[in-house]
Amino acid sequence: MQHLIGPFSELLTMRNLPLNGPLSDDQLPVIRNGGILIDQDGYTRGIGPFNDLRRAHPDAEVDRLEGDWVALPGLIDTHTHLCWGGSRARDYALRVAGVSYQEIAARGGGIHDTVAQTRKAGDDILLQSTVARANQLLCKGITTIEVKSGYGQSVAQELRLLRIIQEAARKTRATIIPTALPAHIIPSAFAERPEAYLDTLYEEFFPVVQAEQLTTRADIFVDEHAYDAALAMAFAKKVRAMGFDLTVHADQFSTGGSSVAVEAGAVSADHLEASTPADMKRLANSNTVATVLPGASLGLGIPFAPARKLLDAGCCLAIASDWNPGSGPMGDLLTQAALLGAYEKLSHAEVFAGITTRAARALRLTDRGILGEGMLADIAAFPTADFREILYHQGQLQPGAIWKSGRRINTL
Ligand code: NIG
Ligand code: FE
Repeated sequence: MQHLIGPFSELLTMRNLPLNGPLSDDQLPVIRNGGILIDQDGYTRGIGPFNDLRRAHPDAEVDRLEGDWVALPGLIDTHTHLCWGGSRARDYALRVAGVSYQEIAARGGGIHDTVAQTRKAGDDILLQSTVARANQLLCKGITTIEVKSGYGQSVAQELRLLRIIQEAARKTRATIIPTALPAHIIPSAFAERPEAYLDTLYEEFFPVVQAEQLTTRADIFVDEHAYDAALAMAFAKKVRAMGFDLTVHADQFSTGGSSVAVEAGAVSADHLEASTPADMKRLANSNTVATVLPGASLGLGIPFAPARKLLDAGCCLAIASDWNPGSGPMGDLLTQAALLGAYEKLSHAEVFAGITTRAARALRLTDRGILGEGMLADIAAFPTADFREILYHQGQLQPGAIWKSGRRINTL
């Protein structure tokens, strides 16, 4: 049985937009008084003026909307660390009092602290909190969420987190895309010989990840206080040869990560606060998506990544939340994307593309990020008649109606 949803005052389909470079709002494809025809498998079978679809499909069940609604494709958050235990409120208090993120880490706080708290947390509590966080995002219109491991930092603990993330994926209606981040920090026991830790990953971790089909994606944090570019390049080659898609925490505090990402053919390079014009050019001439994480800048109180320059250089720009207990505790993609847009002078089209169609590319998903025939019917609809209201309210106008694979989500 097919069903028809509508009428929407505006459907922002995000179809046929260039994947790279600047976008202006007059490029946004808008269907007025639109409808979406959905099949029983949750895919879109027709999109266009509501009344035309109703006439053409008289047997379709009608899910009629009252009032004004603007629909976007379900939002996609391509970079989160939702699976953690404990809190880093103490770090935050230190940071706002002037101690830097790196200093806190050097004192044993930071990521090391979350690793200790996560290892202590039971499977149940980690599962529950991961599902609760995913559902919180889903209620804000984010229908696809990437979730990294990264707070285990040993073969056994990283496998445990990936198994919990896999279980969480079964317990939420959002799509979860898991990513292995076993090379997040250098575990203290391997401080003098990080390459030995990476060797244990190649020998004991990634083969199990593949055997259990825990994920097809691998990530590494390249920075002064994490893995250097040479180690990261070795890691990148190894995991790519094993068949993993690569993504890199790159250029957050120091450069080097994005060139590893480009050279190794990573699907995305994420952070980029410290990227130079040469890094931007390299990214623009590659198939690696440039992903910026305004939530990490807001959490750390540092400038945003140069999103405007990345776009002007010709990059494919995605925007993600980086929701994590340390640098990015806010976990609110729309607010962050709106603020980034205000400070970096991004058009609405650039911001929306960064959390829909361009984000889909960062995860190599070809069935979402666009409202169109053959695409999953993942939809986030906002109670307004004008799409410009969405970012104008800087995250305070929430989607009041959300569909995941054609089925309505009960929002809060
Ligand atoms: O993306 N940069 C490294 N990793 C995370 C932060 C993790 C944490 O602070 O707990 C990030 O910002
Ligand atoms: Fe991150």
